[in-house]
Amino acid sequence: MEQQVGGHILVIDSGIGGLGVLSHLQKNLPKTRFSYVADEAFFPYGKLDNETLCARCADMVRKFDDVDCVVIACNTASTVVLPYMREEFDFPIVGIVPAIKVAARYTKTKAFGILATEATANSRYTRSLMDEFASDCTIKLHGSKNLARLAEQKLNGSRVLIADVENEILPLFTSMRFRESKRIDHVVLGCTHYPFLLAELKQAAPYEVTWIDPAEAVAKRVLDVIKPVMGGAARGRSKYYTTAENSQYKVRNIGFDKLIF
Ligand code: DGL
Repeated sequence: MEQQVGGHILVIDSGIGGLGVLSHLQKNLPKTRFSYVADEAFFPYGKLDNETLCARCADMVRKFDDVDCVVIACNTASTVVLPYMREEFDFPIVGIVPAIKVAARYTKTKAFGILATEATANSRYTRSLMDEFASDCTIKLHGSKNLARLAEQKLNGSRVLIADVENEILPLFTSMRFRESKRIDHVVLGCTHYPFLLAELKQAAPYEVTWIDPAEAVAKRVLDVIKPVMGGAARGRSKYYTTAENSQYKVRNIGFDKLIF
């Protein structure tokens, strides 16, 4: 059903992983105008220190003067910058964090995996979510080095080798591999790039698990947050920006304008 919500939502990510979150939002809010910024020049966010990441995200938001809501469609950034951004700006800032609560609710074996970037896996925020929502579960937390890059590669039309994906996820499955009742039965996708590799992840995993993508839940959260704030004009359309001077993006059907700063 079409929502009667207009306004302008800015969606940001270090790259093109947040496009998954954006497409859920577009489906739910056909009258809303979206701006998507892929911070290609600073990819991956995992290599930035916290101060640089906070300043970078805030600067990006300041490039737009009519924003009603910001969605940080990146786990790596969200686990660091949310409190800072909420202090800086007086419109809603919605983030995305690993869906640990969901995995803890649905696991039957009381064991699940979290697949994230190294930065997200090492973050204090992720640890606190584990303690708060899954202290009764065995958790395999794995920070992958290259999976986000492989997802960018796929979105840009290049082939991704299953063997490369397998290398990135194998630590999730070791040691629990043969004891079926103790196996992990869910894996939380803790990086917005990873759902784009779902087919490859399924092929690379040594046994079947349920992969949890929180993109839809984030879209729902945005609806909760913006409904009372926004009203008005029906002008749904989307603009896409990259921060890289020499962009590598060749995503089908999407033309990226430059936003250099
Ligand atoms: N999409 C980001 C995330 O959700 C990518 C990772 C990065 O830039 O390091 O974590």
